[in-house]
Amino acid sequence: TKVAILISGRGSNMIALADAISAPDFPAEVVGVIADKKDAAGLITAADMNIATGAFARADYASKAEHETAIHNQLSEWDADIICLAGFMRLLSADFIDKWAGKIINIHPSILPKYKGLNTHQRALDAGDDEHGCTVHYVTAGMDEGPVIAQAKVPILSGDTETTLTARVLEQEHKLYAQALRDVIERQKP
Ligand code: GRF
Repeated sequence: TKVAILISGRGSNMIALADAISAPDFPAEVVGVIADKKDAAGLITAADMNIATGAFARADYASKAEHETAIHNQLSEWDADIICLAGFMRLLSADFIDKWAGKIINIHPSILPKYKGLNTHQRALDAGDDEHGCTVHYVTAGMDEGPVIAQAKVPILSGDTETTLTARVLEQEHKLYAQALRDVIERQKP
């Protein structure tokens, strides 16, 4: 199974995925990493890991459709079977998602359907929640919607700050994403 990973920044989830996939018994390979920012730190890490990379800055294209077409063409060239969004901070259009129906998955740092969108950790703290976590889900046209594949929960502890809570969730993200990808691949088998 050929996996492409889309990022916007540091790419720690991309690295965790690529590490897990590199295990000999993992039924996939990473065919490439795409960023929508030329200076995404994760691009350098991916190149260091000998993974093909592509940078597609929105500003280089006249429209959202042209930007997405460029990304689509690169993914097609790599013959990707599954697209993992990993900190990819851009909403994909319904057109793009239709072309890859059932093949795009995302990781989101909350227990969906709670806290779609940004600042999830601070929002969980502000709400006085006693737990928080992360979700891997199929991507549909609605932001952070789509069927849930897997979730991991962490406690919120007294004295937690956005920093401590973010770190606790991120540690789970790094484990959850690879497990969820494995589940998705198993499900796709004929
Ligand atoms: C992760 O928490 C991801 O769930 C969120 O953005 C963060 C990206 O971190 N949407 P990284 O680039 O994977 O390190």
